[in-house]
Amino acid sequence: MAYKYYKDNRAFIEACVKTGDAVVINEEVDWDLEMGAIVRRTCEKKGPAVLFKNIKDYPGFECVGAPIATYRRLAIAFGLDPDTPIPEISKEYLRRTTGKSYPPKVITNAPCQEVILQGDDANILNLPAPMVHDGDGGRYIGTWQFVVAKDLDTPFINWGMYRQMAFDEKTMAGPVLPFSDMGKMWHNKYQPKNIPMPFAVVVNPDPLSAIASCAPAQIAEDEFTSQLMGEPVEIVKCVTCDLYVPAHAEIIIEGVLVPNVTIDEAPFGEYTGYRTSPREPRTAYYVKAITMRKQPIMAMSNMGVPTDEGQLLRSFSLGLEMDKMLRDQGIPITGVHMLPESTHHLTVVGVKPAYPNIATQIGQLVFGSKLGPWFHMVVVVDEKTNIYDKDELIHALCTKCHPVNGIRVEPFGVGTPLNPFATPAERRLGVAGKVIFDCTFPLDWEASDIPIKVSFDNVYPKDIQEKVLAKWKTYGFKE
Ligand SMILES: Cc1cc2nc3c(=O)[nH]c(=O)nc-3n(C[C@H](O)[C@H](O)[C@H](O)COP(=O)(O)O)c2cc1C
Repeated sequence: MAYKYYKDNRAFIEACVKTGDAVVINEEVDWDLEMGAIVRRTCEKKGPAVLFKNIKDYPGFECVGAPIATYRRLAIAFGLDPDTPIPEISKEYLRRTTGKSYPPKVITNAPCQEVILQGDDANILNLPAPMVHDGDGGRYIGTWQFVVAKDLDTPFINWGMYRQMAFDEKTMAGPVLPFSDMGKMWHNKYQPKNIPMPFAVVVNPDPLSAIASCAPAQIAEDEFTSQLMGEPVEIVKCVTCDLYVPAHAEIIIEGVLVPNVTIDEAPFGEYTGYRTSPREPRTAYYVKAITMRKQPIMAMSNMGVPTDEGQLLRSFSLGLEMDKMLRDQGIPITGVHMLPESTHHLTVVGVKPAYPNIATQIGQLVFGSKLGPWFHMVVVVDEKTNIYDKDELIHALCTKCHPVNGIRVEPFGVGTPLNPFATPAERRLGVAGKVIFDCTFPLDWEASDIPIKVSFDNVYPKDIQEKVLAKWKTYGFKE
């Protein structure tokens, strides 16, 4: 049965406008920093998404900014009430992604192919790519898009969100990290054999395809998207190659990754909230065709200090994929929550401490998994701590984690080149230290050694608690 969802990002943004979670700007805005500054500020204020109706120099185009940078908009993307609490949105993701999976459905006459541009007409500078931040190495076509690619010698299809800078009319450049799914195809298979790799960039996809493309999905993202939708995602064949793209996207850019050619890309304001990676030779994308809707809507994410959609969605899906993995391993966890404000660097795992050093086992499992390179802090709390409550978390960290015995450091982990804390040499190599904070009291302590938590829930008899709760408002309290 299909779940409630939005087939395209237009319908999603319209829904967000209705609930006050998106604003429409009709006044002319400049693609050169003005749009970027607006989107940055709304992200920092945890404000609404933005639909720019009138972009300087680009009549006929619109652009959406910060599409899913709040949990409210994430709830809307899942067809839920915008006020749905985070644990309920998480349950919905887990329910859908552990359910039936469907292959995608191929259609013809797709909205994303209403206009087809090839040859000299396929000029990416005709798209309103924004100059996102002052100091960026160029205008970015790809900040809210994903790249579709097919493995060289298996049927595996990958949809992955990897940023792309416009270099000239026909070329883009961007980092393809070696441990990403596309990185493995490109750096290990196509490039060593000098074979150009066909790609299709999907700019401004529907919200669930976008969520899938930046999630560490355990299955191909077209099937993963179908799981999120509860029915097959509709795809269409590209005009220059046999890749397939979501039919209801706004703009598609087709072409090939060029082997053994690099283009200088960056600097760029990144999801860590810093500009970390220098201008360096990166993967080159050569453009063959652009297809789009008649009145296309561009999209942009503005990475920087929290909270942008990369931080929010990556935290959400990284945490929940870890939740699945730890349960599959039989670890008695109560849940996993990754904090978007940590720029997906800190994950909180709730567990029933069933045996000594379970926190170390959890840390080693998550750091050793495919998800591990993206974060370096794991905080393990007991089942009584609410993993979604930051106050409880800080309290547990500062009172239960022994500053010597409770902190386990692994100096030699896999990291990304973007970690601001890493030494310049570590960034160049893509390595990072990892740390586990064990916030559970040791199991070998006598019951009388365990400090008693002094809280309303814990130190008053049930009948007193109930009486106080029942009379709370009559005492004169509002909340
Ligand atoms: C807005 C945004 C931009 C991203 N840019 C990059 C990038 O340039 N390079 C990269 O390797 N990953 C990037 N990521 C992370 C990948 O999207 C992420 O790892 C995703 O799960 C792709 O995973 P896969 O390689 O496992 O398929 C970005 C994520 C977001 C949300």
